[in-house]
Amino acid sequence: MKKQLITSALPCVNGLPHLGHMVGCFLPSDVYARWLRQKGAEVLYICGTDEHGTTSEIAAAKEGVSVEDYCQTYHDLHAKIYKGFNLSFDYFGRSSSDQNKEITYRIFHALDANGFIKEKTTQQVYSPDDGRYLPDSYVIGTCPYCGYDRAKGDQCENCTKVLDPVDLINPKSALSGSTHIEIRETKHLFLELPKLEKELEEWIETKKGIWPDIAYSIAKKWLKEGLQERSITRDLKWGFSVPKEGLEDKVFYVWFDAPIGYIGITKQWADEQPTERSWEDWWLKPEDVTYTEFMGKDNIPFHTISFPATLCGTRENWKQVDFLKGMNYLNFAGGKFSKSAHRGIFADDALTEFPADYWRYWLIANAPETGDSMFSFEHFATTINKDLNDVLGNFINRVLKMTTHHFGAVIPAMGPTTAHETELYQTLDTLVQNYIHLMDRLELRKAMSTLREIWVSGNNYIAKTEPWKVVKTDPAYAGTILATALHLIRLFAELNRPIMPETADKMLAILNLKPEPVWTVKPMSSYLTELPAHSSFNPSDPLFQKISPERVQELKLKYKEVEA
Ligand code: MF3
Ligand code: ZN
Repeated sequence: MKKQLITSALPCVNGLPHLGHMVGCFLPSDVYARWLRQKGAEVLYICGTDEHGTTSEIAAAKEGVSVEDYCQTYHDLHAKIYKGFNLSFDYFGRSSSDQNKEITYRIFHALDANGFIKEKTTQQVYSPDDGRYLPDSYVIGTCPYCGYDRAKGDQCENCTKVLDPVDLINPKSALSGSTHIEIRETKHLFLELPKLEKELEEWIETKKGIWPDIAYSIAKKWLKEGLQERSITRDLKWGFSVPKEGLEDKVFYVWFDAPIGYIGITKQWADEQPTERSWEDWWLKPEDVTYTEFMGKDNIPFHTISFPATLCGTRENWKQVDFLKGMNYLNFAGGKFSKSAHRGIFADDALTEFPADYWRYWLIANAPETGDSMFSFEHFATTINKDLNDVLGNFINRVLKMTTHHFGAVIPAMGPTTAHETELYQTLDTLVQNYIHLMDRLELRKAMSTLREIWVSGNNYIAKTEPWKVVKTDPAYAGTILATALHLIRLFAELNRPIMPETADKMLAILNLKPEPVWTVKPMSSYLTELPAHSSFNPSDPLFQKISPERVQELKLKYKEVEA
């Protein structure tokens, strides 16, 4: 198997992640990284904070701290939250690292040497009241495409169009609110995307039917509209200064160095143990590596056009993305997520309410893969109560209780099996193959409904065989049924591992087992019979708790899903 490189979009350091971010890239990438490791692949899973640009500068100024301190503090906060969600990054780095600076310069110089960088005099928004240029999100105004009235100068978050600040209608300064705006001329550098358009188009064509529709279609849409030269520098202080004569007081645009951050952060990882790790093995030997990227839909243009073009124009052998998992948005039933308005669920609050695994399961089972999806506490509670409590939790409890009651806390001996077991093996052989196939293809919602079916098959088996009756007439067969059911707990744990890692570990601990480093699927007739008879298990407390209707009401008020 090839090396598996996985990146999750780098979260903007300002602003903390909410459930939409969690499901947009972090959780699906973590599920995939865990899944591939479990199958024995050599995985490198990279993420980190995206730190440059206007939004960090503005946020730091608001808090009255230096932008460097601001970024360090928020980087640490991000890292802590992701740890709470059990995200298994191999490295969580920073786009502002020295390593990223080095790689960004290397890539820039190659692009420049190959004639893909052009210097142009441009018009920039200048605010006399603020005494400075206002790039990107320093300007707010009405989107010329969709009419959204709080569009930022770099991108409209409503229609996802990439904008130029001078395009905004009724522009005003995000700093002072001043509407006294001038347009001034100054020099900037541009990446000549039109020169790379043909190559990009051919490359994107090879992804047809392979990438999810949303990724392929957004890339095609951009190509169809024709690529423009993209400015890659800004009139800012915070960023990597431009290594070119006459432009030293400008910095690279955040969207130039942020995706390069995937490479820079890999170098941060490698530099920690330079004798054992090589970043070049992951980024400069494309044939050895399969690369999968995860992101929300607003990030797709940058990852299908600008970043690939940036790498391509160097004429070096950089690894390009093989599979791009783009997600739609997760909306909140109460309106737009807003930390300042205390509306919606942010990742840090989420963990104070319920265990990470509840969120992980709900979010993956309801991932906005083919369209936007909606979070409501009602739906969340129903899912947790039904799937995790009634189906999975109840199965485990019943099996442990019944076995303990009739046989003690040990795995009963397996006797001869019957048609019931044969049927169970067949059902599961098929379902588990489906699950593997769906996980491999990152069809997460379908994978989760298959996982649910797998759990249901356990309950069905118990309902059909009625071990509580059989034990009175044929205790040996009752032992076979319960031993089979205990094996199912192990199977379910292994399949749950990528989604609910804590729960999976607890389930295995019940059976005195640890996760197998590499899990290989076997025919159920052997997998469901292989634990040694008479080995003891640990009767456990219920793994899940139900969420009451009263609690749902409280949460709805607390997070403003309904007005108080
Ligand atoms: N920070 C950006 C966002 O949240 C994503 C950057 S992805 C990167 O929209 F790869 F470019 F870093
Ligand atoms: Zn718009």
